[in-house]
Amino acid sequence: MIKLHVAPPHDHSVVIGRSVPFPATNSPVAVIYDPKVAYLAEPLAESAGAESAAVTAGEQAKSFGVFEGILRKMALSGLPRDAELWAVGGGTITDLVGFVAATYLRGIAWRAWPTTTLAMVDAAIGGKTGINLPEGKNLVGAFHPPRGVYAELESLATLPRERFREGLVEAFKHGILSGDAVLLQPWRLSPDSAELEEYLARAAQTKIAVVEKDMRESGERAKLNLGHTLAHALEISSGHRLSHGQAVAFGMLYSALVAVRLGYQDITPHLEELLSWLEPHLPLQASWEDLYSYINRDKKKRGQEIHWVIPVSLGEAKVSTVQDQVLREAFSDWRKAVERYAG
Ligand SMILES: NC(=O)c1ccc[n+]([C@@H]2O[C@H](COP(=O)([O-])OP(=O)(O)OC[C@H]3O[C@@H](n4cnc5c(N)ncnc54)[C@H](O)[C@@H]3O)[C@@H](O)[C@H]2O)c1
Repeated sequence: MIKLHVAPPHDHSVVIGRSVPFPATNSPVAVIYDPKVAYLAEPLAESAGAESAAVTAGEQAKSFGVFEGILRKMALSGLPRDAELWAVGGGTITDLVGFVAATYLRGIAWRAWPTTTLAMVDAAIGGKTGINLPEGKNLVGAFHPPRGVYAELESLATLPRERFREGLVEAFKHGILSGDAVLLQPWRLSPDSAELEEYLARAAQTKIAVVEKDMRESGERAKLNLGHTLAHALEISSGHRLSHGQAVAFGMLYSALVAVRLGYQDITPHLEELLSWLEPHLPLQASWEDLYSYINRDKKKRGQEIHWVIPVSLGEAKVSTVQDQVLREAFSDWRKAVERYAG
C-alpha cells in the first residue's frame, strides 16, 4: 500500500493499494455510490453506520436533477454540518458527490473511493468538483478538496478492459508532463498485476505535484490539458462515438506534431506506441476547418485566445498560442499518422 500526501490547502492523503483499510470517523456519514461497485460501498457504509444511496454513473449523473435529489434527501434526513459524504465510484460520481459536499450547508467534508483508473489518477485528485449543463460539460462546480482518497485496486477487477486502458491514457499524459519513463509503458499492466500500485501512485503523484503548485488552474494546472483541446473537438464531432481517453491520445499526438513543427523534441514515437496499444477507431473524417470551428466556438464563449499545451520535450511542456499555419501543417501530419485508425 502506498500513501501519498497532498499539501495544504488540500491537506489530505491519497492511499493506493489492495484491501485499503476503511477510515475511522466520529462524524455521521452518508455514502453515495455507483451500483456497479456496491460490493465495495456496502461494507464501507456498514463500517460507518451510514445511510447510503446508489446513483447510476455516467455524465447524466452530473446534472442538476440528480444533484438536487441528493441534496433534498440529505436535508430530509437532517444530515448535520459535521457529517461526511463518502463517494464510491468513477469520476462522474466523485465529481457529483464532491460538488454536493461543496454546497450542502455551505460545505461539508467528503472522501472519495475512486473505482476507475481515470478517477484514481485524475478525477478524485485536486479538489475540482462539479456537474454539467446542457450547454456544456463541467460548467458548474467548485474547488472543494476531499478529506481523503482511497484507491482500492481490487475494485478494478470488475472494470471493463477498455475503461481500464482509457484511464491509463491520463496516466500516460502525466508521464509526458513529468518525464517519468515508467508511466510511458501502461501496456505492462492489468488489474491484478503487481506493478499496478506503483504505477498508479506515480501517476497520482504527478497530478498532486501540479495541483499543489496551482490549485485554481491559472498556470501550471493548465498543462494537464495536454491533448485535450483537439480531443474535445474530436469527441464532439464524432457524436461522442470516440471515447474521451482515445480522443486524448489522438489529441496528444497532434500536440506532439505541433511541437515538431515548432522545432522541439520529437516525442511522437511514444504516442504512436500508445495508440497501437489502445487500438482506437477514429470514426470521422472531419476537416481542420470543422474541428477548428468547435475549438474556436468553445474558447470564444469564454472570451479567450486558444492556448495550446505543447510538449517541448519529455518532462517539459509550455502553454502558448500557435500560428495558424503551423496548426494546419501539423494537422496534415496528424491526418497521415492516424490514417490507419480511420474508418
Ligand atoms: N474533477 C477532475 O479533476 C476531473 C478530472 C478528469 C475527469 N473528470 C471527470 O471524470 C468523469 C469520467 O470519469 P470515469 O471515466 O471514471 O466515468 P464514470 O464514473 O462514468 O465511470 C465509467 C464507467 O465505469 C463504470 N464503473 C466505474 N467503476 C467501476 C468498477 N470498478 N467496475 C465496473 N464498472 C465500473 C461506471 O458505472 C461507468 O459506466 C468525467 O465526467 C470527467 O469530467 C474530472
